[in-house]
Amino acid sequence: MPRRSSTCSLAVLFLLSGNLFLGSASADEDAVRNQLARKDCVRGKFKDYYLQGQGGDPPASYSGRVFKLSQNYPNQLPPMEDYPWLKIGFKNGGPVDPQTYLQALLDYGLEGNVEANFYVEDNKVRKWYGMPWMDWNTEVASDWPGTDGREFVHGFTHEFDSSGKTLSTLQNDFADTWSGGYFNDRAAFGMGQVYCDPDNPKPGALNPDPAALNNFPNGSFIIKLLFSTVNEPQLPIVKGALEWQANVFVNDDPSWRNKGPISRFARAIATIRLIQIDVSVRDDRSITGWLLGTFGYDGRSHGETPWKRMVPLGIQWGNSPKVTFGDTCAGPAGPCNREKLTEQWINEQAVKDLATAPLNFDHLGYGGRLAGPVDNAKASCMGCHQTAGYPTVPILPEFSANGSVLKLDAARQPGTNQSFRMMYYGNVPSGVVFSDTQLYSSDYSLQLSMSLQNFISLRCAKNTQDTHAPYPGICAQLLQWSKAQRKSIGDLLTFGSPGQKGAPIRSD
Ligand code: HEC
Repeated sequence: MPRRSSTCSLAVLFLLSGNLFLGSASADEDAVRNQLARKDCVRGKFKDYYLQGQGGDPPASYSGRVFKLSQNYPNQLPPMEDYPWLKIGFKNGGPVDPQTYLQALLDYGLEGNVEANFYVEDNKVRKWYGMPWMDWNTEVASDWPGTDGREFVHGFTHEFDSSGKTLSTLQNDFADTWSGGYFNDRAAFGMGQVYCDPDNPKPGALNPDPAALNNFPNGSFIIKLLFSTVNEPQLPIVKGALEWQANVFVNDDPSWRNKGPISRFARAIATIRLIQIDVSVRDDRSITGWLLGTFGYDGRSHGETPWKRMVPLGIQWGNSPKVTFGDTCAGPAGPCNREKLTEQWINEQAVKDLATAPLNFDHLGYGGRLAGPVDNAKASCMGCHQTAGYPTVPILPEFSANGSVLKLDAARQPGTNQSFRMMYYGNVPSGVVFSDTQLYSSDYSLQLSMSLQNFISLRCAKNTQDTHAPYPGICAQLLQWSKAQRKSIGDLLTFGSPGQKGAPIRSD
């Protein structure tokens, strides 16, 4: 390719500057990203937390630290480090020693961040960043726009609520999940290109090279901490878990909150416990380009600190797309034989420990694929994450428009309609869209796709738009997209039906 050869000299410079462990293909790709990256980006404009300056600020009685979004994204792609996971070899698109690989990911994600209590701008080892626009967050679990947005103590967003009995037989009430995601410098470069103009994001600039796949650069890494409001009487293994304070919903029950009014979403400072840690990494050697892994807290394990008592649960590098539900599971309630799911590693001992009464969390998802304890049990890590793109699409088959037509029911008949369902358990390559209704991939980052969704929910709707500000280009494109989508559905209903005197019927 001509562009490749023209950047060859830059690649050589990279190699000479000491990054000798880098493959030349990777260095070459980095050079192209750098060459085409915008350098005039505006930084420091994103809000830190929900309703900042609009009634959501900490009360006078609060004297603790207040979350600030680490948002000085680099305009130049920082070079690959000698990441510890690169030492582990790959075979057939997956690591030869998945457990050691997974541990290396966690160690990297915690380094310097534990000491800084994940106020990552204080990390003394390397720089870390947060996703913009999560202050105004509209997650799946809430019907009230923005209310899942970042709280002001740690910048956590509200996520999946586990209903009674899902974590243990002693859990009699909802337990809410609050979580935070932290991106390394290579990932932050891509985010910074998308949000180069804070008032007009460009979802297609994740990779500044328009001729390449819209993906994060190799070596991008994300760690996510998931805390729960659950306590020891309801879940004995949270004994000794890391406890932090956060400004969370006073009432844990989403069905009550969602009935409104908005005052039902009142928040107050309360104790939450670290229950799960997720990691994801862009590694070109993976069959999909990504690996996603998870750890669960178990107070019975022997580590000296709560961080050391996080037990590896498993890691996925693909969904094993040809393996249907019937191939692995005897019925909706199992048992499931996971041998055919070769694109993951599962910690079998942990599966047993976590499903022995009073514990109730079988952290495995669809057909035995990996999912986390506080994830939707009918999904899988890579299943949900491969849908990430702009505009967003439903992350599970059940949530989709087709799901309602096909009357999908993951609890009662997960084995039906495999031709549609298994699309959600395919292996979308890094940087490729999942659905033909999406314009740009956000490359397995659901925070990135949600942040873009959060942006348009405030900035594109006609009634909330600031009439003095220029209408963002991303919104104009979205309107065009919406017209084209409607027309294509209209055409399906009428195309080929003769109108007056045999003339075509127009659907627009
Ligand atoms: C039911 C769908 C679903 C499943 C299953 C799921 N996730 Fe996620 N994940 C999400 C959503 C939605 C977000 C974005 C919301 C947020 O982080 O607040 C997210 C965010 C993340 C992030 C933050 C980075 C980002 O932008 O994507 C990481 C890392 C992550 N998940 C890892 C995992 C791992 C590892 C697993 C499996 C153990 C997993 N996820 C399972 C839906 C899912």
